[in-house]
Amino acid sequence: MTSPKGTFDILPSSDEPWQQSHLWRFFEEKVYSAADLYGFEEIRTPLFERTELFTRGVGDSSDIVSKEMYTFDDKGGRSMTLRPEMTASVMRAFIEHRLDQKASLHRLFYMGPMFRYDRPQAGRYRQFHQLGVEIIGSKNPLYDVEMIDFAFSIYEKLGLSHLHLFINSVGDPAARKAFSAALKEYLPEERLSEDSKKRYHTNTLRILDSKDPQDQALLEGAPTLADFLSSASQDHLQTVIAHLKELGHTATIHPRLVRGLDYYNETVFEITGGGEQAQNAICGGGRYDGLLKTLGGPDLPGVGFATGIERVLQMLLAQNKAPLKKTLMTVFLIALGDSSKELCFKLLKELHSHDIAATMDYSGKKIKDQLKIASDRGCRYALIIGDEELASGLAELKELATRESQKISWKNLAAVLKGVLS
Ligand code: HAM
Repeated sequence: MTSPKGTFDILPSSDEPWQQSHLWRFFEEKVYSAADLYGFEEIRTPLFERTELFTRGVGDSSDIVSKEMYTFDDKGGRSMTLRPEMTASVMRAFIEHRLDQKASLHRLFYMGPMFRYDRPQAGRYRQFHQLGVEIIGSKNPLYDVEMIDFAFSIYEKLGLSHLHLFINSVGDPAARKAFSAALKEYLPEERLSEDSKKRYHTNTLRILDSKDPQDQALLEGAPTLADFLSSASQDHLQTVIAHLKELGHTATIHPRLVRGLDYYNETVFEITGGGEQAQNAICGGGRYDGLLKTLGGPDLPGVGFATGIERVLQMLLAQNKAPLKKTLMTVFLIALGDSSKELCFKLLKELHSHDIAATMDYSGKKIKDQLKIASDRGCRYALIIGDEELASGLAELKELATRESQKISWKNLAAVLKGVLS
């Protein structure tokens, strides 16, 4: 039996380096420390929601909703969907818990699995993980900047470099409407790819995203969104770009960047590791000022991003920045004989109670084999107790890296060890 296609296990040691649990923990620790620094607070929501949340929130015409959702009827006959993204879930929770009454501005972040039924390939999975943030409550472009800076601060803490930030504005609904009409007039529907023919009627803007060479050729010389932006939208974008620059982030305007979710307005952006706005963006996001209201909540603006954790870890390995697995284990207890095994079992609990990381092997293997296990686990010390040590009250403490030994009293072991460790 194997895990379902497009899913994977995260293991203490895995043949696939990015699937090793220590890397995931490394990533999560960096996120928590950056979140504390910037004042982002964590939100966790259910892995599944009513299907309607995503059809209304992400949008019927998006690929995510129309093709990629894991939707099922529960035993009560209600349609449920494994979350394909979390912005809509955060909005649902915000409305349900009346967060607008608790503060005027919310900086939230989340990490967890998302589900999209897509064709699996490198960097694309059916269950994948995102770190996301949402700032809810202000239209001020400086929040767009802060959010993007937060993403970069995490990449920096991880040690990633050579990242590219592509930015665009999708304006307000009036600009998008006028632009869609102009694009429709310009593009010959009958010569578009099959996918783009469908988008021509349902979501014209998304034709800009088409990878089909024929579509790309037809788009040459097409009107651009920029020509339709209001001066307020243009100012918003320029303010974001200028302040990003102040913080040391160069943003390249990508006039065809529209993103695959329907809720965006004004700023949209993606971060990639390649020179171009590639298929494998590690991060994407933007502003979604009408979303809360669409979902029946207060008319509050929001801005956010999500970064794909798998893609970030893969990039970390590609750039040789992944840390080696470090062990936190301090002591490995080695019992030689049944009586000392009983004693070690009790000593293990004593060490745990005093916050000393310790483990032991219960199988009664030979000392040589146990020392090997201790080394493989990366333990710092082995504490050896046989009949002699049992009688004398003095155990042998062996430092595994140097092979140096000393005798220490196993009575009051935690206190004695703390002395050695300090
Ligand atoms: P998204 O662009 O759909 O945006 O996803 C964000 C990131 O998740 C992508 O840039 C990519 O790194 C990762 N990702 C997406 N799909 C997959 C997949 N199948 N396998 C692996 N990684 C994937 C959103 O989800 C929005 N909710 C972002 C946002 C938050 N906008 C505003 N707030």
